Amino acid sequence: MFRVFNFAAGPAMLPETVLLRAQQELLNWQDSGTSILEIGHRTSVFQDMLAKLEGKLRTLMNIPTNYKVLFLSGGAQGHFSFIPMNLTGKNRDVDYIVSGIWSERAAKYAKRYANVNIVTTATLTGVPDSSTWNLNPNAAYVYYCPNETINGLQIHDIPEVGNVPLVGDFTSSILSSHVDVSKFGLIFASAQKNLGIAGITLLIIRDDLLDQAQECTPEIFNYKIQVEQNSLLNTIPTVPVYIMDLMVDWIVNEQGGLDGISASNQRKINKLYACIDNSNGFYRNDIEPKYRSLMNVPFNLQNNDHLKYFLAEAGQNGLAYLNGHKLVGGARASVYNAMPEEGVDKLVEFMQHFAAKYAG
Ligand SMILES: Cc1ncc(COP(=O)(O)O)c(C=O)c1O
Repeated sequence: MFRVFNFAAGPAMLPETVLLRAQQELLNWQDSGTSILEIGHRTSVFQDMLAKLEGKLRTLMNIPTNYKVLFLSGGAQGHFSFIPMNLTGKNRDVDYIVSGIWSERAAKYAKRYANVNIVTTATLTGVPDSSTWNLNPNAAYVYYCPNETINGLQIHDIPEVGNVPLVGDFTSSILSSHVDVSKFGLIFASAQKNLGIAGITLLIIRDDLLDQAQECTPEIFNYKIQVEQNSLLNTIPTVPVYIMDLMVDWIVNEQGGLDGISASNQRKINKLYACIDNSNGFYRNDIEPKYRSLMNVPFNLQNNDHLKYFLAEAGQNGLAYLNGHKLVGGARASVYNAMPEEGVDKLVEFMQHFAAKYAG
């Protein structure tokens, strides 16, 4: 069967066993005699799966009991607006750490609903030291994006923000390693990278933050109302929830949980950065080592011709979608949980051969 190694930033590669299980279960899901594509979100079989998925996530991520777990539509960018709507009914002052394109956009959207203070702005290579940050101790929340997918910049240590609730956009880093949920007021991630397919956003919120929505907040994106409705106020995107369930099973049963997956992510990423750093400048990634992303590796080649040949020849070798985001150009390898180590090995081998062929 023809399948490439898909290095796209998202929607991203899925594990083959997840695809095969979805295929096997397609016509008759959970002995219901119907397909997951057809089944109602209010059937007991679906609701049972949803409840079990929440339980599995609680165990896997060690989510404390005073946190609620929501499965919502809207994509991460929808929640760039729904988060300020939900959290600023009592206090409109909010803090944003801008470390790349996604947190910059989140801050821009929040300005419609709240008074946004920019705590710090990252450079192209790293984040200014936290001693220089302009944190407001009375803010309703501090927002940041741990892993900036486009820039390839990751803030590995959870920022110290005192008693102000911390909000994290984990869209491109969720379930890639352990995260201490208890340090956050709210965590969210759209699913199409490490949680399956597009159409659903996982949102984890501390229960004391649930009663602060602005009047204008639409019911289906009002987190308190959705908690009361078990995320089922309207028709939930059933298939993306189901695929998330398969992804969680895959991590737990086939990857050794978060310990296993984070060790394998670390091995993959070490090989990739070593290849770039040992290329005598043929490939370049300028992010400071301590801010380098575990999931998304942007890199430049020496000129546009090299980039063009690189992308074309990589494609011919079954290494697909290595182009950088249109806003920054260059190349980018996204190596989410589902990218097998074999895919990274093949990429590294290809990069070494390509450099040997084209280096001047
Ligand atoms: C970190 C981050 N936040 C937000 C988004 C936007 O996600 P969505 O397309 O689900 O709105 C992306 C998409 O790539 C992302 O990487």
